[in-house]
Amino acid sequence: MYSRIIGTGSYLPEKILTNHDLEKMVDTSDEWIRTRTGITQRHIAAEGQMASDLAVNASLSAMENANIEAGEIDLIIVATTTPDMVFPSTACILQNKLGIKNCPAFDMQAVCSGFVYALATADMFIRAGKYRNVLVVGSEIYSNIVDWKDRSTCVLFGDGAGAVLLTQSDQPGILSSHLHADGNYSSVLSVPGNICDGKIQGNPYVNMEGNTVFKFAVKVLEEVVLEAIAENNLQTTDIDWLIPHQANIRIIRSTAKKLGISMDKVVTTVEKHGNTSAASVPLALDIAVRDGRIQSDQYVLLEGVGGGFTWGAVLLRW
Ligand code: ACO
Repeated sequence: MYSRIIGTGSYLPEKILTNHDLEKMVDTSDEWIRTRTGITQRHIAAEGQMASDLAVNASLSAMENANIEAGEIDLIIVATTTPDMVFPSTACILQNKLGIKNCPAFDMQAVCSGFVYALATADMFIRAGKYRNVLVVGSEIYSNIVDWKDRSTCVLFGDGAGAVLLTQSDQPGILSSHLHADGNYSSVLSVPGNICDGKIQGNPYVNMEGNTVFKFAVKVLEEVVLEAIAENNLQTTDIDWLIPHQANIRIIRSTAKKLGISMDKVVTTVEKHGNTSAASVPLALDIAVRDGRIQSDQYVLLEGVGGGFTWGAVLLRW
């Protein structure tokens, strides 16, 4: 038994924040942001809009695309680092907003690798024969956790959501998944703050050693692709589409170059979305499916890396 993606969807909030807008907020320039990151703009959630609201729109779009009704969904997994609240989980809030009764629902916290972790988890539940239709969502509102006075981080992130519907199939589908973590690096990229006794304790904003993150990301994004293709007796030339986490165009280009994969085979959205953390991979996947780049029978490799550090890949046959 395999699992197979039968529908994709995504949602971006209406408001667009350009690099030129950021020039008015912090000491930066469009030129610096574009040359160092490839980002030209990002979407920002409206006041009061929560991760679950973005997730609802992406989910409805994926459900329509898959021709699946709310009542047919057996499990919901939401990958998010920016949940609506401490609890209940954003997945439970999403379940209620979608009008689904009684299916299990939980959040996955693996920061920018969250969607890859969630997809791998959903695949295991389906392969085990436990559930038939699983809704897997990545939804983030990073604008809530970046310090808009810190030019070294606020220019990098954006808000958005992506979703897929995964179902049981006798054909793959997902061929393999590969997950990793190394908690030794937990302080390199973090939001260390917490709520204690009614007050925020510690820094509630993204805190990062940019250069360390950059080097680590390029290293593991290459390694995990090699791991996935080796397990499936494939070569990098067999990969039709690489969909990496969208953090920085230089990380993406360096990874593709090391792997000998042409940038024509790499889906990038970082230019228009910035880094949307757990939402970046499903957003890019949905765009490449809907614009017709991804075609039936092709090999598609999704990969993520993020705080923890966590990293991973899912290889699938479309
Ligand atoms: N505008 C103008 N100048 C800036 C800005 C900015 N927005 N941000 C930093 N600078 C300055 C720095 O202060 C520094 O100035 P100095 O030389 O006078 O000290 C100079 O630019 C160079 O700074 P570096 O940090 O060395 O720049 P670098 O080329 O490494 O680029 C960047 C920084 C873009 C953050 C890069 O390290 C990076 O992309 N790292 C990966 C981080 C990432 O993607 N994190 C996302 C979360 S993790 C993930 O998704 C995998």
